[in-house]
This record gives sequence, C-alpha cells and structure tokens, in this order.
Amino acid sequence: MTSPRILPATMADVAPIAELHARSWQATYAHMLPTEHVRSHLVQEHAALWRDRFMRADDPAMRIWKACPDMANGSLAGFVCALSGGDGILLDNLHVAATWQGRGIGRALFHQVRDWASALDPDAALYLWVLASNTRARQFYDRLGGRAGRVHPIAVSPGIEVPALRYVWQTEKI
Ligand SMILES: CC(C)(COP(=O)(O)OP(=O)(O)OC[C@H]1O[C@@H](n2cnc3c(N)ncnc32)[C@H](O)[C@@H]1OP(=O)(O)O)[C@@H](O)C(=O)NCCC(=O)NCCS
Repeated sequence: MTSPRILPATMADVAPIAELHARSWQATYAHMLPTEHVRSHLVQEHAALWRDRFMRADDPAMRIWKACPDMANGSLAGFVCALSGGDGILLDNLHVAATWQGRGIGRALFHQVRDWASALDPDAALYLWVLASNTRARQFYDRLGGRAGRVHPIAVSPGIEVPALRYVWQTEKI
C-alpha cells in the first residue's frame, strides 16, 4: 500500500490540478458528455474554476488538498476540494491520477475531508454528487460507507445536465 502525503494545495498547484482534473474528466466522462464539450472547453473551464478557488484560499469554509507520491518527483497523484455550506460539507472533485488509482490515495483524500468536516461541525452531514454512470466511483463510495440517494439530474457545466446520485455520510459515524 502506498502512503501518499496529503498536503494543503496552494496557488502553485492551480495548473497541475486543472490539468489532472481535465484529464480525469476526459478519461471518466468522455462517453457521458458531448464530445465537443469534452474536447474544447474542459481545460479552460477547469483552469478558471481552480484559479477562482485559490483566489479565496483563506476562506475558512473551503479546503483543497493534494496527494503527493513519496518519491520527490513533483508529480501530483490526486486532489480533493471540500466546501462547507447550509446543507453540510460538500466533498467536490475527488480525482486520483490513473497511474495512482487503486493504491489507497482516494481513501486517504476522503479521510482528510472527513476529519476536517468532523472537526468543523461534528453534526454536519458530509455529502457529494456522483454521476449515475460512474460505476467505479459509486463502488468506491459504497466501500467507504456512503449512503446513496435517488438519481437526480445535476448541471455539470453550463447547459449540460446529467443524472447523478447524492451520497451522504454522517460525520460522527465515520
Ligand atoms: C474513484 C477514485 C477517486 C478512487 O480512488 P482510488 O485511489 O483509486 O481508491 P482507493 O485505492 O483509495 O480505494 C479505497 C477503497 O475502495 C475500494 N475501491 C476502489 N475502487 C473500487 C471499485 N471500482 N470497486 C470496488 N471497490 C473499489 C478499494 O478496494 C479500497 O477498499 P479496500 O482498501 O478495503 O480494499 C479514483 O478511481 C478516481 O479518481 N477515479 C476517476 C475520477 C472519479 O470518478 N472521481 C470521482 C468523482 S465523483
């Protein structure tokens, strides 16, 4: 089992995170989204999203972590973002690079968010949205003890809605 280091991400991580995010979308969602969209808009959309998030990096309601392999080669193995709001703590954008999947990194990033969420508000629910057709991620969240809700359309990009499920954990129970 790999022991990745989970560290707070910084503005210097915008480009590698945006790139891994776009690559992961292309690998995972290519068959679920319009081809033109996957090809042409993803990188710009993701770069803008992460720039905006890092511009408000001192927001106490948001955290971004990255997973770094033990080898000091500077590569990014994965990342996750957590946002606290009225409905609980939203785990947003958990992605592990293809070559690092299946080695415990997704679990380590999830646990980082869970620990932050339970310290912030032990009564809050931790939740996320996963596309209904993303079977692999659903199996991963099932394995981590998430409770799946009903299928519901969500907007993944301006003008693009796809069926998704909400997964929930009660933080005091995980
Ligand atoms: C889903 C994802 C985050 C999982 O990360 P990962 O690092 O590969 O998962 P881990 O190695 O930490 O696995 C944790 C546990 O889940 C289990 N698991 C992972 N994928 C699984 C699958 N497809 N089926 C069954 N169990 C699975 C593992 O066996 C492990 O359990 P164990 O430790 O008891 O054996 C990763 O595959 C990924 O980034 N996928 C592409 C992007 C994506 O879909 N993100 C989710 C968006 S909502």
